[in-house]
Amino acid sequence: LPKLNTKQLGRNIDYYTSCTSTQIIAADKARQGASHGTVIISEEQTAGKGRLERSWDSTANKGIWMSVIIRPNISPEFAAQFTLVSAVAINQAIQEVTNLTPQIKWPNDILINGKKVTGILTELQADMDIVHSIIIGIGVNVNQELSAFDESIQNIATSLKMENGEEVDRSLLVAKILYYLEKYGDLYVEKGFEPIKILWESHNCTIGKRIRATMLRETLEGVALGITKDGVLELRLDSGEIRGIYSADIHLLGR
Ligand code: BTN
Repeated sequence: LPKLNTKQLGRNIDYYTSCTSTQIIAADKARQGASHGTVIISEEQTAGKGRLERSWDSTANKGIWMSVIIRPNISPEFAAQFTLVSAVAINQAIQEVTNLTPQIKWPNDILINGKKVTGILTELQADMDIVHSIIIGIGVNVNQELSAFDESIQNIATSLKMENGEEVDRSLLVAKILYYLEKYGDLYVEKGFEPIKILWESHNCTIGKRIRATMLRETLEGVALGITKDGVLELRLDSGEIRGIYSADIHLLGR
């Protein structure tokens, strides 16, 4: 990566032309003791993993499919906030490399003109009170054309190229993502969630909207009021009751 200007992130990179899932490889490497900042990146994934046991379409040579192993000195209860840290970092990187204005849908999808360009999958390896590693899986649709997307998702997914009309330099974008991931990750470890919360809020497209939150056991509809000091989404139901959402699939209903 010629343009890399990080201290640790991406200093150790495993590059594949094809693999099952960078997330699976990274989990193994993390268990074997891979160092903080190790990156697994592949041109193509044959079994890309999405959130909630879904699959992730990982077309060859068109996207960024990578997993970053980090070993922050935090307790496991704070690990979930790293997913918002990642969203802020990637959002910033995309904005700088493309001049597009991406927005974050809670917790960590990145949308452009209402369609998804980036998904993040964060997995934790921890014991009771110690984080061994956090594996941040990042999928960015970069240079795909519409035909690369399954028809069933063509109206909800997009690529950077489809949005700005030109090819994007993937290695430059990878370097920028790693730069901001390191910067905001360090900021988070040093100063806590507050500065990240402000960044997240200023780039989000969820707060103030009517949303539907689909969870394992129930589906709720209401207005997203904001996020708490811990990153939990607060939802005001039509009954007036306020509920904290810790993990869900969010559908923006507009208004
Ligand atoms: C989501 O469902 O929005 C998360 C998608 C995460 C995809 C990335 S691509 C690199 C890494 N390897 C995987 O198998 N998944 C993540």
